[in-house]
Amino acid sequence: MELSDRVSTGIPKLDKMLGGGLLRGRTYLITGETGVGKTILSLQFLLEGLRNGERCIYVSLDERIDGVLRGALSLGWNFWDYVDQGLFFPFEFRLFTSDLKRFGKESKAFVDAIEKIAHGRKISRIVLDPISALAMGAKEEFIVREYLREIINMMEERIGATTMLTCDIPTGSNRLSRFGFEEFLSSGVIVLGIVRLRGKLLKTIYVRKMRWSKADSAIYIFEIRPIEGIVIRESLSEQLDKSLIEM
Ligand SMILES: Nc1ncnc2c1ncn2[C@@H]1O[C@H](COP(=O)(O)OP(=O)(O)OP(=O)(O)O)[C@@H](O)[C@H]1O
Ligand SMILES: [Mg+2]
Repeated sequence: MELSDRVSTGIPKLDKMLGGGLLRGRTYLITGETGVGKTILSLQFLLEGLRNGERCIYVSLDERIDGVLRGALSLGWNFWDYVDQGLFFPFEFRLFTSDLKRFGKESKAFVDAIEKIAHGRKISRIVLDPISALAMGAKEEFIVREYLREIINMMEERIGATTMLTCDIPTGSNRLSRFGFEEFLSSGVIVLGIVRLRGKLLKTIYVRKMRWSKADSAIYIFEIRPIEGIVIRESLSEQLDKSLIEM
């Protein structure tokens, strides 16, 4: 794999942690408890593409799209500019309980819907946020797994975009994903978390898995700032050493 086959996440330090960025055309999982920054990370990944003139799709699977874009504006990110330029295609997709019974057939319909938005034009980046909503309500685990596997395969084969799937995990859980198998279906997993240190809550980020790359597996602290978005700081162990000195 050549270095040019790498796609920047829009977060320079994260690219380094990933061994040079994401592999083009592959699917990655961004996992973590609620409110930790999964949507912001995935939007920052799209923003990086949009600034380079790439076409990007964002699919909201649980929030109203207007709310997401307005939230992004609070960080100083105006995604409507890119809608106007014909580069950004945000949309909502909701599955109803009646659809859930048809898992398997529906995965094709879902990918068809994304292809329709592309209108035959090349799409570089896609975010599905959160993938857990897509599979919610399905009772049998293997059906959900096959459904997600099909979606990932079809998107990689038919669309070829670099894709981020976000996945929320229950607060306090040390699982990597909602259903416990999403991580096996993706080429890499980025885990966001929250730790309490001396009465303060710190946001953490690490690369749990990265196929075909030598990734940095240390846990880092990050902040969310306007304009810059996710800013990765020192490692958690450096922060712990610093706290001990302060004590
Ligand atoms: N304008 C802002 N400035 C600084 N921090 C912000 C701003 N907007 C949001 N945040 C931070 O981002 C967090 C929410 O991030 P985000 O919506 O990406 O989380 P999430 O992991 O997608 O959550 P969920 O699982 O509920 O979808 C908030 O808890 C807050 O700490
Ligand atoms: Mg979110």
